Amino acid sequence: MLVNGHPTQSIRIDESTGQVFVIDQRRLPFDFTELELKTASEAFGAIRDMAVRGAPLIGVTAAVGFYLGLKDYQETEDMQQYLDNLAAMLKSARPTAVNLEYAVNRVFRVLQGVPRDSLTRLAFEEAGRMYGEELERSRNIGLHGLKLIQEIHDRKNGGTVNVLTHCNAGWLACIDYGTALAPVYEAWNLGIPVHVWVDETRPRNQGARLTAWELKQHGVPCTLITDNAGGHMMQQGKVDLVIVGTDRTAMNGDVVNKIGTYLKALAAFDNNIPFYVAAPSTSIDPSLSNGNDIVIEERDGNEIRFIEGIRSGKTESVRICPVHTAVSNPGFDLTPARLISGLITERGVCSASKEGILGLFEEWREK
Ligand code: MRU
Repeated sequence: MLVNGHPTQSIRIDESTGQVFVIDQRRLPFDFTELELKTASEAFGAIRDMAVRGAPLIGVTAAVGFYLGLKDYQETEDMQQYLDNLAAMLKSARPTAVNLEYAVNRVFRVLQGVPRDSLTRLAFEEAGRMYGEELERSRNIGLHGLKLIQEIHDRKNGGTVNVLTHCNAGWLACIDYGTALAPVYEAWNLGIPVHVWVDETRPRNQGARLTAWELKQHGVPCTLITDNAGGHMMQQGKVDLVIVGTDRTAMNGDVVNKIGTYLKALAAFDNNIPFYVAAPSTSIDPSLSNGNDIVIEERDGNEIRFIEGIRSGKTESVRICPVHTAVSNPGFDLTPARLISGLITERGVCSASKEGILGLFEEWREK
């Protein structure tokens, strides 16, 4: 999508030099800078410290991190041990998004039993493939989700479609296009009038800092609202459709996504508003029958106690509560399948249920 009028992606892999660059999302929207990732530890740090965010991007960054880690492999080290340690290190960066495990396991598998001198090349090629596939998934989610927007647009006799979203599930969270925002970009690019209600998404404000920024950069009309305002907007008839992303979806259709998603699903349910989850297959965990056991990341309490903003061109962090206030900061929550109208996947839209998912992903059917 566009940044200052130029097509931009959240991660760049230079085919000829093997260099990897990511946008430092901790500095947006105040500053647009790229970070070069040179080692596996830097890729690990970028995921853990949230320079890169969003399940699909986390996965691709981890795959690239595997390749970077192999560049530091010394002939004297035990190769299998080295691969095991690298995989374990990268997987431990953050617990909730299943994309991370998926990506690391996939590169790890490709490297089993291959000659030492091909390891780096094969890891680079696999990471590149995963980058391309993730891009394709987003594109297809956009095309399938577009039909939902088109239907509402037709029903409203050509009126603007108001989509509410939570957190950042746009191109910054993926490679390009996004998951939840992919249908919005697709509609906008086709000239269908869309407007996005952007939840600020406390405490890290991914909505205010990332979603509002990327939509504005691409020219899509959007309005920032507090996390508490969504229910009210729905009651007022100002929301036609909710689309959110997912960090891990279980086989029964339970969805774990950024904290606050559940409340939006409840409000949408009460107001009879379609609530869709854009779920690439890399965010679905075929090993989980339901979402109850998904590990919810507990994040640093200072994310709640302090808030970051900009004043006179300088970013500042200010405390917003009494000193040493006790806080609890779960990063994600679980939205039960019964509150979800459907999953928008790269293969089509299905019900948030085992039958729905298996209908599109036959390969996960137990043999
Ligand atoms: O900033 P994060 O990495 O903690 O936020 C995660 C997300 O971006 C979301 O939960 C998102 O809605 C699903 S990933 C497209």
